[in-house]
Amino acid sequence: MSEKITIGVIYGSYRASREGIRAARMAMNLLRDRCMPVLLDAAEIDLPLLDKMYKEYDEGAAPEAMEAAAETLRKCDGFVVVSGEYNHSMPPGLKNFLDHFQKEYFFKPAGIMTYSAGAFGGVRAAVHVRAVLGELGMPTISAMLPVPKVQSAIDENGTPENEKTAERFGRFADELLWYARALKTARADGTPY
Ligand SMILES: Cc1cc2nc3c(=O)[nH]c(=O)nc-3n(C[C@H](O)[C@H](O)[C@H](O)COP(=O)(O)O)c2cc1C
Repeated sequence: MSEKITIGVIYGSYRASREGIRAARMAMNLLRDRCMPVLLDAAEIDLPLLDKMYKEYDEGAAPEAMEAAAETLRKCDGFVVVSGEYNHSMPPGLKNFLDHFQKEYFFKPAGIMTYSAGAFGGVRAAVHVRAVLGELGMPTISAMLPVPKVQSAIDENGTPENEKTAERFGRFADELLWYARALKTARADGTPY
């Protein structure tokens, strides 16, 4: 059953050094055993600063990159939102990407993975991310996954330096996939809106 679950890994740093791509790659690597992960890298997709939301375009009239991202989001049964901590909140590129879409997220669970260069692992950003994801229609799971000192905790390929990081991710992913399967079944019977 879990083979049929698609999880979108959303990452939103536009900085040249993009340390958090390590965390996004780790999520992709460790999810592959459990489900079908797909990376939504905001800088690669490169939507403009928000003018019109996807839903404000007539059908078929959205820019190609936005249409492709919407199509990917529609296929997802849940999300891992990978957020750095910028002034105790989420990076602007991540917020810009998230804000373009709406019903593509509805009734799909999200797990929040944060990271930072320092010791706190982005936990203060996680509080803001949870509020935003709730507003976007994604119930967030209880487990959160902060990764302190991301630049040394995970290598460039997304391999964690310490196996405890992978174990923590495993528990986080198991909880997310439980909700993703449950809500996929529930969505098949219809949604309130
Ligand atoms: C604008 C800005 C604000 C930051 N604010 C915080 C912060 O509030 N707390 C923290 O722990 N680190 C903070 N940092 C450090 C980031 O955690 C670190 O640079 C991290 O690598 C950013 O993620 P990225 O490389 O994927 O963009 C900040 C970095 C930037 C660029």
